[in-house]
Amino acid sequence: MLSAALDAPGFAPLPPRARTLLETLGAPPRLGAHLRVVHDVAVTLTGWVGPRVDVPAVLFGAATHDIGKILHPEELSGPGSAHELAGYSLLLSQGVDESLARFARTHGSWDAADVTFEDLLVTLADKVWKGKRLPELEQRVAARLGGAPWETFLALDDELERIAAGADERLAFQAAYPTSG
Ligand SMILES: [Fe+2]
Repeated sequence: MLSAALDAPGFAPLPPRARTLLETLGAPPRLGAHLRVVHDVAVTLTGWVGPRVDVPAVLFGAATHDIGKILHPEELSGPGSAHELAGYSLLLSQGVDESLARFARTHGSWDAADVTFEDLLVTLADKVWKGKRLPELEQRVAARLGGAPWETFLALDDELERIAAGADERLAFQAAYPTSG
């Protein structure tokens, strides 16, 4: 079932290293599907933002941010943040560099002082995939984009509106895969 979630058409393929980690660590199919849709949104978002961010880092982060849910599967279907540090440690233990593992621990705390533009984009992808809009987060992203503040905010808002329009399709895709097995 995991490989079905990872191979299903309609969403961008995960970075090979992220895929290998999910397979090696035995990710539940639902987690694989979730990471597919968030990564796909991150592909769109980074394409819009352009090369001013570390695109491979954002895409790897989007593809692995919830990997700690392998150790905390109850957080696949319920609330909880134990997966964040657990995922960070898990990635480090697999030899992933801190600069790429960090997204597992930062995606839940985007208002922290040391948050990077890349962190903000992974968090944004993890919200807008399901149509969730967070004005404060979006204002932070717009500020990092630079340019005229109001115009930038409106342009980002347009892009996020376009992405959010696909939320139902993503939610249905993710829900089709079981949380275990
Ligand atoms: Fe997520």
